[in-house]
Amino acid sequence: MTVRHPGRPPLVPVIVGYGRAGRDLHHHSLRTLAEKGALPTGQVLVVDPARRDGLPHDARWVPDLATAVAALPEPDRGVFHLTMPVDQRLQTLRELLAAGARRFIVEKPLARSAAQARQLLALADSAGAELIPMSVWPSSAVTKELVGLLRAGRVGRPRSLRIEQHKPRFRRGLDDAAHSSALQIEMPHQVLLALHLCGTPCRLSASDVWPLTLPDVRRPALGGARIDLVHGGPGGEGVTSTLVSDLTSPVRMRRLRLTGTEGEIVAHYPTGGDDPYGQLRVMGQESRRVIPDAPLTRLIEDAYRSYLGDGPRPPGTDPALHLAAMDLLDAAGAAGPKAGAVMETTVPHRSRKTGSC
Ligand SMILES: NC(=O)c1ccc[n+]([C@@H]2O[C@H](COP(=O)([O-])OP(=O)(O)OC[C@H]3O[C@@H](n4cnc5c(N)ncnc54)[C@H](O)[C@@H]3O)[C@@H](O)[C@H]2O)c1
Repeated sequence: MTVRHPGRPPLVPVIVGYGRAGRDLHHHSLRTLAEKGALPTGQVLVVDPARRDGLPHDARWVPDLATAVAALPEPDRGVFHLTMPVDQRLQTLRELLAAGARRFIVEKPLARSAAQARQLLALADSAGAELIPMSVWPSSAVTKELVGLLRAGRVGRPRSLRIEQHKPRFRRGLDDAAHSSALQIEMPHQVLLALHLCGTPCRLSASDVWPLTLPDVRRPALGGARIDLVHGGPGGEGVTSTLVSDLTSPVRMRRLRLTGTEGEIVAHYPTGGDDPYGQLRVMGQESRRVIPDAPLTRLIEDAYRSYLGDGPRPPGTDPALHLAAMDLLDAAGAAGPKAGAVMETTVPHRSRKTGSC
């Protein structure tokens, strides 16, 4: 696929890692955008040592990063989607920067730890590269609607936020080599959304993780997780967030409940790409609204627009916000099961976002 813009050189998507995220999420979104005319049709370049055969007609395999860069009109015209496993990211970024690549969309998590993520971001920064971390829920139409309602004061002053992301994940949990804790699965999305909505500084007040238990086997920390946050610095607003992810739930659910001094909003996010609709309701004031919502596609569209100079960075993609979320997740991970108050995280002043809460 070649993304053209009048008077500017084209942008070419390069997907590095053509597994579930690269093929089923990123390429799917790029194709959807091409179909609706937001991006012209064409091929993506694919770098993945294990996926040479059986690619769709609109994916062209190249053997390595250097060949991908050489196939571009100019090295900085590629938008590199880094969708390979997290441990490969730093080395891949290093190689691509050395070859002249400058634009990246990076899957979550950015790195294994906040310290490694800082290293990755510093590397991109020092080369003058632009890097957009995946920020799915901040790009959601449900979130946009919710922010509008909060700004209009529809529930008064926000007091508490609860975000639940539940799903049955027994089979994947039992043979999951990529994740060691429920804090790494749905929770990164939940923490980022809480910070996007209710802002930083933010303090971790409690956390917990629990095992995935079946009659004959037990996987520590993969059954679920909970994180409690307090937003606002000393003397701040003190909005509290409770984030829960039950990976033994019999039902899939992505539900947000925001309670204010004068009411409550309940929102449901889409539970998968197969039905791109969310729902939202201001309790006691109106019946539920159904909202078309394809946040990942929206994020990718906004990322390309921003790379073309046609719009701002997509919401929630400020690297400092991601680092703040990762600091909180690291602290919860280090604290282990049933932890009490642990730490506070702050986004540097220049990029501080107070959120909508
Ligand atoms: N699976 C999901 O639903 C999902 C959703 C969102 C984000 N993610 C994130 O995306 C990343 C990948 O997850 P996945 O589920 O797609 O994994 P996956 O195992 O399905 O795919 C990873 C692909 O990367 C390839 N690969 C490995 N090393 C590579 C390298 N150095 N260069 C190029 N390709 C390489 C592998 O051959 C494989 O095809 C993870 O960080 C994950 O957290 C996954």
